[in-house]
Amino acid sequence: MATAAVEVIGVVGGGQMGSGIAQLAAVAGFDVWLHDTEPSALQRAQKSIVDSIRHLVSKGQISQFAGTSSLNRLRYTSNLEDLRTSDVIIEAIVESEVVKKKLFSELDKIVKESTILASNTSSISITRLASSTSRPSKVVGMHFMNPPPIMKLVEIVRGADTSDEVFMTIKTLAERLGKTVICSQDFPGFIVNRILMPMINEAFYALYTGVATKEDIDTGMKLGTNHPMGPLQLADFIGLDVCLSILKVLYEGLGDSKYSPCPLLVQYVDAGRLGRKRGTGVYNYQ
Ligand code: CAA
Ligand code: NAD
Repeated sequence: MATAAVEVIGVVGGGQMGSGIAQLAAVAGFDVWLHDTEPSALQRAQKSIVDSIRHLVSKGQISQFAGTSSLNRLRYTSNLEDLRTSDVIIEAIVESEVVKKKLFSELDKIVKESTILASNTSSISITRLASSTSRPSKVVGMHFMNPPPIMKLVEIVRGADTSDEVFMTIKTLAERLGKTVICSQDFPGFIVNRILMPMINEAFYALYTGVATKEDIDTGMKLGTNHPMGPLQLADFIGLDVCLSILKVLYEGLGDSKYSPCPLLVQYVDAGRLGRKRGTGVYNYQ
């Protein structure tokens, strides 16, 4: 499918990533269906999108008319079948291979033969996700960074069977969304998380072994290396559950103990301290 033919985008998963991707696509002029199994997640997604688009209008970054039409192009649903007319689906559900494969297999039966199934996975094999469908050449990784409306990068991941045409369609789509594209082969964690997650894990080890306080670790990396956030703040921002899932994929997929998740990170996730989205993680946000 050529990008010019992409009119309707389905986004599955209305959490922090899915809601941002849906907003971005609607503002860029696409008709968007946003699906989540949890009605409360859809309500939160809608509120965050409305607030964010109002903010863009108030700052003069888009016109009042563009803001209203973007909001009118967005539809929210907990019925997956509503996404059947989508030309491209972008999946942004929980970072679990089992759950994503089940979804991809369901989507494969619901959507048109020409529909591209893209995953926003942070680390999981696109080739293995594709194997749960009858269309491996139309399955691709489209990895946005958090927050999707702000961050300038999309990492495109080619599975073993992703076709050149699908790669080009997704590249052009990402560019229409205002993003710079990089391309990764399909290895655990791709480019960005292969490099970022060991740093975050090391920051947890520094905290765990008493090298320094969380504040000093973050200030050290913020001011010492000019990062916008320290690694522990960033982990809270990403979600500690997401960080742990990515590290497990890196550890299992690459077989090197350097990716072994820090016990403190594991303990925080066990305790439900998942970061900003839960109001508590390394830091307290309540
Ligand atoms: N959606 C939309 N807009 C948002 C937003 C969101 N979720 N969060 C912040 N913004 C906007 C704010 O409205 C603000 O806009 P204006 O300047 O127009 O007012 C702007 O972003 C700056 O926000 P703030 O002033 O509140 O805060 P800040 O200057 O500290 O910036 C930040 C916030 C952009 C998140 C910045 O701290 C940052 O870049 N942090 C690092 C983010 C990062 O590294 N992301 C990648 C994580 S790795 C990943 O995503 C891959 C993976 O698979 C895990
Ligand atoms: P999140 O926990 O904020 O949201 C996930 C949403 O998916 C929830 O609303 C949940 O109700 C919904 N969901 C779960 N199973 C579902 C299903 N079967 N069908 C429909 N909806 C379902 O997670 P997130 O941080 O938005 O991450 C989503 C995906 O994006 C993950 O694969 C993650 O690795 C990836 N990602 C995350 C970040 C980040 O910084 N958080 C960055 C890039 C990519």
